[in-house]
Amino acid sequence: MSRTRIKDILLSDKTDYPVNIKGWVRSFRNNQFIALNDGSCMSNLQAVAELNSLDEETLKKITTGASLSIDGTVIASQGKGQKVEVKVEKLTILGECDTEQYPLQLKNRPSLEYLREIAHLRFRTNTFGAVFRVRHALAYAIHKFYNDRGFVYLHTPIVTASDAEGAGEMFRVTTLPFDNPPRNEDGSIDFKEDFFGKSTNLTVSGQLEAELGAMAFSEVYTFGPTFRAENSNTARHLAEFWMIEPEVAFNDLTDNMDLAEDFIKYIIKHALDSNREDLEFLAQRLADEEKQKPQNERSEMGLIEKLEFVLNNQFERITYTQAIDVLLDSPAYKKKKFQYEVKWGIDMQSEHERYLVEKHFKKPVIVTDYPKDIKAFYMRQNDDGKTVAAMDILAPGIGEIVGGSQREERLDKLTQRMEEMHVPVEEMQWYLDTRRFGTVPHAGFGLGFERIVLFVTGMTNIRDVIPFPRTPKNAEF
Ligand code: 4AD
Ligand code: MG
Repeated sequence: MSRTRIKDILLSDKTDYPVNIKGWVRSFRNNQFIALNDGSCMSNLQAVAELNSLDEETLKKITTGASLSIDGTVIASQGKGQKVEVKVEKLTILGECDTEQYPLQLKNRPSLEYLREIAHLRFRTNTFGAVFRVRHALAYAIHKFYNDRGFVYLHTPIVTASDAEGAGEMFRVTTLPFDNPPRNEDGSIDFKEDFFGKSTNLTVSGQLEAELGAMAFSEVYTFGPTFRAENSNTARHLAEFWMIEPEVAFNDLTDNMDLAEDFIKYIIKHALDSNREDLEFLAQRLADEEKQKPQNERSEMGLIEKLEFVLNNQFERITYTQAIDVLLDSPAYKKKKFQYEVKWGIDMQSEHERYLVEKHFKKPVIVTDYPKDIKAFYMRQNDDGKTVAAMDILAPGIGEIVGGSQREERLDKLTQRMEEMHVPVEEMQWYLDTRRFGTVPHAGFGLGFERIVLFVTGMTNIRDVIPFPRTPKNAEF
């Protein structure tokens, strides 16, 4: 008999049919009641063995974490808490699990910090089961959203010679020996001898290559891993994270904002529709966690309520200059509550972003038209000579989830800006060709995938929404 997924059995009202189920034991009571989970959904399926039907040897091996195969009949449940259960007819132990050593016992609820250390096992907990099913649902919804709108999914390179953000936060890729690399006459390392014949690194963003694609397909997106060697040890930063980057020819900044807002709402709605049970569990988890906090630090809305609120309300749209004015006008500023300085020209710190989003507007905020000096070389210069057509989306509890802009499509302006910012113009002629051959206005953005997973799951540390986090001094598993 082929295996039936536990989710399919639980979703159906059908009874009195034979099944085979396989999974891992979550609990075993009274030598009779086995709660089995196969990861297809949050809920366990109860398998009930007739009293004294299992021999001593087998009984000893049905422990939390052990894997089983059960043949039986789906019947209407006698007990409370579930509609159906499986009456055990044949039970096979697939893999034993030593309770003395298995770290995931129901008795001692492990902390998220501890589970991070055993990330190879944490998928088997309710919390991480829910988080990673939701992560999957969001990834699926992303492809569906763009596919339904005619975008071409472009695979941009992971190894590259360019620095798309010009911030110098790159991991080098090389096969040169560390102890004795080939050198030029001036003592610098001779990368002509390296594998690719030039200095290469892991990509920080697929944007530049996505722009090349947009100049032919009109609308493209990338969805891939990106790498940043920034030494930010925070609950919001990873050294390896996934990013979705749409790039659209003929779009201006307003089109870009509309696309980003529609996109975020679409994937949240998909998660709410497809993973309700997981999100309800995560909402309860968050509510329990909030109870530990003092009253004034608790969030006003529950997780589901927050997600529905985001779906049903327009994001606030303000310029950077307006945002600075809001901050300068705020009680927090007047009472000197901000640690960092506030004035036009600053790169807003997380405390400023959180004030805008959580205290002032109480919803996602799109901030546009930032000072050009704190933004990347490719952003389109506004007529004021001071700002660029940039947009960041800030989300409650997270801060920046999206960074994007209309791109500078004018060759002379772009080249001049690259020179001012010491971006190697000669090496990037391929990029400038887009502006030479049929240039058009265009715009795009990057959504940090883990940041949106954080937002949707209500988890608080980014290390808990990617299977195996890479952060400074940590590349376990
Ligand atoms: O704002 P960023 O640096 O923008 C870009 O990379 C552009 N090339 C995107 C584009 O226009 N195509 O990064 C985009 C988003 C941020 O808003 C944030 O959500 C996420 O990527 N991000 C990170 N997520 C986790 N860990 C990090 N270290 C991140 N750095 C950026
Ligand atoms: Mg940014």
